[in-house]
Amino acid sequence: MPGIVVVGTQWGDEGKGKVIDLLSDDMHMVVRFHGGNNAGHTIVYDGETLKLHLIPSGILYPHIVPVIGNGVIVNPAVLLEEMESLAGMGVDTERLRISYNAHVILPYHEVLDGLLEESRGSASLGTTRRGIGPTYADKAARVGLRMQDMLDPEGFGDKVRRAVEERNRLLTLIYGAEPLDAAEIASRYTDHARRLKHLLADTPLLIKEALREGKNVLFEGAQGLMLDLDHGTYPYVTSSNTVAGAVCAGAGIGPRDIEEIIGVTKAYVTRVGSGPFPTEQDNEIGEAMQEVGREFGTTTGRKRRCGWFDLVILRYAARLNTLTSLALTKLDVLSQFETLKVCVAYRRGGELIRDFPPLYEVFRECEPVYEELPGWRTDISGATRLEELPVEARDYIQFIRERSGVPIKLVSVGPERQQSIFLDGGGEPLRQGRFLFYDDLPL
Ligand code: GDP
Ligand code: IMO
Ligand code: MG
Repeated sequence: MPGIVVVGTQWGDEGKGKVIDLLSDDMHMVVRFHGGNNAGHTIVYDGETLKLHLIPSGILYPHIVPVIGNGVIVNPAVLLEEMESLAGMGVDTERLRISYNAHVILPYHEVLDGLLEESRGSASLGTTRRGIGPTYADKAARVGLRMQDMLDPEGFGDKVRRAVEERNRLLTLIYGAEPLDAAEIASRYTDHARRLKHLLADTPLLIKEALREGKNVLFEGAQGLMLDLDHGTYPYVTSSNTVAGAVCAGAGIGPRDIEEIIGVTKAYVTRVGSGPFPTEQDNEIGEAMQEVGREFGTTTGRKRRCGWFDLVILRYAARLNTLTSLALTKLDVLSQFETLKVCVAYRRGGELIRDFPPLYEVFRECEPVYEELPGWRTDISGATRLEELPVEARDYIQFIRERSGVPIKLVSVGPERQQSIFLDGGGEPLRQGRFLFYDDLPL
């Protein structure tokens, strides 16, 4: 029953898409378990750059069953658009399975997301405005619509119309906004339901059957730990749990179904949207990272804020996710620097802080404590084996491995598949496959 989880360890955009794509050869099923089309996962497929927001990247491979789990929130228009563009590339999208229990994003969720952001003024969160917060709020308040409501498309249309009429009162009376066209939206959503209902399934059962047959099931995380609703930098977070533990509720499996938990960590840190970021380099260093790393939001096109690597955050991610291994990405982007800084602890006033501080007021005042490592200043983007890296690059990898306590199994030196270095930790292979093996200490 090999359940394998891939999660982001920072503020998202760590390169999860590429890592998941690399693992796909060995997988039978790839499952999204939380979030919505706020995610943007980039894959270089057949020389083409592909950005997926909702559909698991496994869709590209005929041997994989892609699954949208119950914990995901689905914008049906975005889903259908994504399916159409994949079909245009010759990809069979009929293998997709969607949970009956996944909640539906409606136009008023997107409008409300925008209105809430505007009402916060300078304290806005910098959301993707995809309706994520309002949709999860409705789910928790038990007033949301679910994918299973689509089984009866006309009935679904009626429910949508009533919900829009109800929300129009909020939009007009509280926010002074224009009302939405309930009849038009209802008719659009009826059509979406007609086109999607045959893909709905009992996804927890499908997943369990695959696991029972000993097949590899990959759970594709979106965002990253620091955007987790409970454990991230609240309120500057997304509205779902991004920790590996969320797989259980969001896909409908048990903790004992999970065997391997891979944390994707970028060789520096980026953040899109607002909120504290201790190692941020709001200067020419950050600009150079942004430029060389092409750090633009995949979903919104915003420039990503950039800064030095933060071990306090990685150790926090290792602990909360019980990471069994790491994939270190975008090492090539650091080739430009003479000296590299790594944050090993924080300082606040006279106090040295080694563990991620749970109090927001403390975290936002933390200053990074850095150790400096020499850079390598040569192009490493063609390396495919560890020995081909300059000693300074190997030292940087080793530093992160030792200070985090987590084995590194993959180092990525470019967006393409072949720009990858697989590291054998020296342990016994857990299964066939290039990437999946234990060496030392599961935490
Ligand atoms: P995700 O949200 O975690 O899947 O990450 P994104 O796809 O939003 O952002 C990662 C970006 O970095 C994408 O444009 C990838 O093609 C690119 N990328 C991934 N790995 C590497 C790498 O090792 N080096 C470089 N230069 N780019 C990479
Ligand atoms: P992937 O899966 C980076 C950020 C937004 C904002 C905050 C809340 O590509 O790593 P939301 O729209 O979710 O309510 O916005 O979360 N955010 C992401 N940042 N990568 C993502 O996904 C993100 N998804 C949401 O920028 O700061
Ligand atoms: Mg992304």
